[in-house]
Amino acid sequence: MSSFRIAVFASGQGSNFQALVEAASNGKLGGSIELLVSDKPQAPVVQKAQSAGIQCHLFQPKEYPSREAYEQEIVEKLNNLKIDLIVLAGYMRLLTPVIVEAYAGRLINIHPSLLPAFPGKNAIGQALDYGVTLTGITVHFVDGGMDTGPIIAQRAVEISASDTPETLSESIHELEQQLYPGVVSWFAKGLVKLEGRKVTIDAKVCRENTGFMSEN
Ligand code: GRF
Repeated sequence: MSSFRIAVFASGQGSNFQALVEAASNGKLGGSIELLVSDKPQAPVVQKAQSAGIQCHLFQPKEYPSREAYEQEIVEKLNNLKIDLIVLAGYMRLLTPVIVEAYAGRLINIHPSLLPAFPGKNAIGQALDYGVTLTGITVHFVDGGMDTGPIIAQRAVEISASDTPETLSESIHELEQQLYPGVVSWFAKGLVKLEGRKVTIDAKVCRENTGFMSEN
């Protein structure tokens, strides 16, 4: 059994999922992806998981009496697989305390803006509509709110006058695919510490032990 066991939750394309799978297979993640959880059985991410031979837990929310009911089932699955870290990668559902409390401190998300700016849906469109010249990406712990948990790492992306939702989305995705596997590898090495809202990372050890961007 691999020592650091990861579950990814995703609902869409799965470009971040794929980047995590590739980092795991070339030994850069420091752990193994044991499970994909998806509320969209037809989503491209599910095909990616199947091609990579990763176990999937697929469900249709409307077949359950409540969010808590399907989350309880997920928690049982996570516990059975001895999951150490839940990585949300485009999972389009708010989590209830059933998962958030069971996996507090072991549950992270990536969001395509510099939080706390532009939380929620369509962050890239929100940033363009607002007219900011700088946006970016944020990896954060998940709490009960909408993109409100303690911030682990951020990277900025400049918006140029010629950017469209498509070009900006491409730059953001590219950066996400570099940063997210790196952050997961910090967790695998036990480098991330959380005290209140303050997150600290042993940057020196990161730099020595991973091939990823390491400064926070
Ligand atoms: C990413 O932009 C991520 O920041 C957001 O959802 C998107 C997922 O993209 N939470 P993908 O499915 O990984 O391609």
